[in-house]
Amino acid sequence: MTSPIADPAAFHAFERAGWESVPRPYHDAWGTLTTQAVAPLLNAVGAGPGVRVLDVATGPGYVAAAAVRRGASVVGIDFSEAMLAEARGHHPGIDFRSGDAEALPFPEASFDAVVMSFGLLHLARPDQALAEAHRVLRPGGRLAFTVWDHPEEAVAFGIVLGAVQRHGRMDVPLPPGPPFFRFSDPAESRRVLLGLGFRSLEVIVVPQVWRLESVDALFEVMRGGTVRTAGLLRAQTPAAQTAIRADIRDAVRPYQRGDGVELPMPAVLSSSVKG
Ligand SMILES: C[S@@+](CC[C@H](N)C(=O)[O-])C[C@H]1O[C@@H](n2cnc3c(N)ncnc32)[C@H](O)[C@@H]1O
Repeated sequence: MTSPIADPAAFHAFERAGWESVPRPYHDAWGTLTTQAVAPLLNAVGAGPGVRVLDVATGPGYVAAAAVRRGASVVGIDFSEAMLAEARGHHPGIDFRSGDAEALPFPEASFDAVVMSFGLLHLARPDQALAEAHRVLRPGGRLAFTVWDHPEEAVAFGIVLGAVQRHGRMDVPLPPGPPFFRFSDPAESRRVLLGLGFRSLEVIVVPQVWRLESVDALFEVMRGGTVRTAGLLRAQTPAAQTAIRADIRDAVRPYQRGDGVELPMPAVLSSSVKG
């Protein structure tokens, strides 16, 4: 069981400021990865013609766009204006709106399906966001979300966190957030979702592979295209950053394939039905 963090407002503000500055690097580095779980995510909620879908923390709008292609009626929301601009640039004509996952700007029972692709682990109050998803779903509506698998499986995180632990420090002066891998644990998802009134919980692992152009790319994309992990890396001393970069390069080398590298980055997909 996880307790709420001490200062959710500080972490929320930190995340929001961070996402305002990374939409293009995020899209360039992560877009080919997070899109690998879009089809299973939309399958889990039965997205199709006539289904009203809310894509929470839409980012560049990948899930919203795929749901529109399936004939669903879609709204994408994000709290970052820069991300929304990125989404509208890629997908003109889709209804992207400014909104907070923790206080959804919709009446209850507005949607048949709520999806969140790699958003929950960035929230200051994830339980509150799941309660909001429950509120805006109609009875019988479906929720599905993806998060990263544990760092032993989602190896890019294992490599980077291991390098920081060996050469730097984890206790950097950043606003503490909820545990990054909390909802990678099916038992924790089950506990929270059942407690909110969801039922029929299913959890599956979606295999994904992250193709990066070189052994140096992982440090760069983590430092330039994320928020919390980037903050952790930037807060290290210059000497530690040099050692961390070298450690990451060595750890990535076994994953070299052809001209680039291929890192296993499975997602954990949880889905459930509003009771
Ligand atoms: C890792 S990106 C995921 C983007 C996209 N869904 C994907 O799968 O690639 C996380 C997104 O969550 C958004 N976000 C974080 N906290 C949020 C909040 N409280 N309310 C709305 N959006 C939030 C960020 O702005 C960012 O666009």
